[in-house]
Amino acid sequence: MMRALILALFATCATAQTDTDVPFVVTPDNVTREMLKLAGVKPGDFVIDLGSGDGRIVIVAARQFGARGLGVEIVPELVQKSRDNAMRAGVADRVEFRVQDLFATDLSQATVITMYLLPEVNLQLRPRLMALKPGTRIVSHDWDMGDWKPDRVVTVEAPDKPIGREKVSRLFLWTVPAR
Ligand SMILES: C[S@@+](CC[C@H](N)C(=O)[O-])C[C@H]1O[C@@H](n2cnc3c(N)ncnc32)[C@H](O)[C@@H]1O
Repeated sequence: MMRALILALFATCATAQTDTDVPFVVTPDNVTREMLKLAGVKPGDFVIDLGSGDGRIVIVAARQFGARGLGVEIVPELVQKSRDNAMRAGVADRVEFRVQDLFATDLSQATVITMYLLPEVNLQLRPRLMALKPGTRIVSHDWDMGDWKPDRVVTVEAPDKPIGREKVSRLFLWTVPAR
């Protein structure tokens, strides 16, 4: 029921946008931090956020967790905003934001992938994610990856969540297994 409601809200947002697989909905700041903690992000990590919106996940990964990172985002205005936000946060030398289709992005540099997308987009990405370097951590906000069972699932209070009545977020963690 809650899943259907959130999907409907995402769909409502999507009608205002064109040419994106997922509408722009922010991950609240406290949830961003929990995602990065769940992935165990630390200096030396390279975080790629797929569909990076205003850049917050990659910027927090650099500023608070000491990582480097890349955000890929299809909407040019959001990429510009992300670059401005990175400058203001003092991490512009450690992060990059690109106008790019996430399905065309080279993910091989990632040690951590973050995403707040949609269930069917997660499923489309799954074969590429499963083929990443063993040990790569993947964290998804709210949506799972079907029968690829997560290593951990965490529920986080999210009072600032812009969608849904419940104001909680579910976070899923996978670690790419050895081949
Ligand atoms: C739900 S928002 C998440 C934003 C950010 N990651 C966060 O958690 O705050 C999804 C983002 O993906 C972007 N997006 C949708 N389809 C995309 C695509 N094919 N390639 C790159 N970005 C895309 C949207 O424009 C939107 O900003």
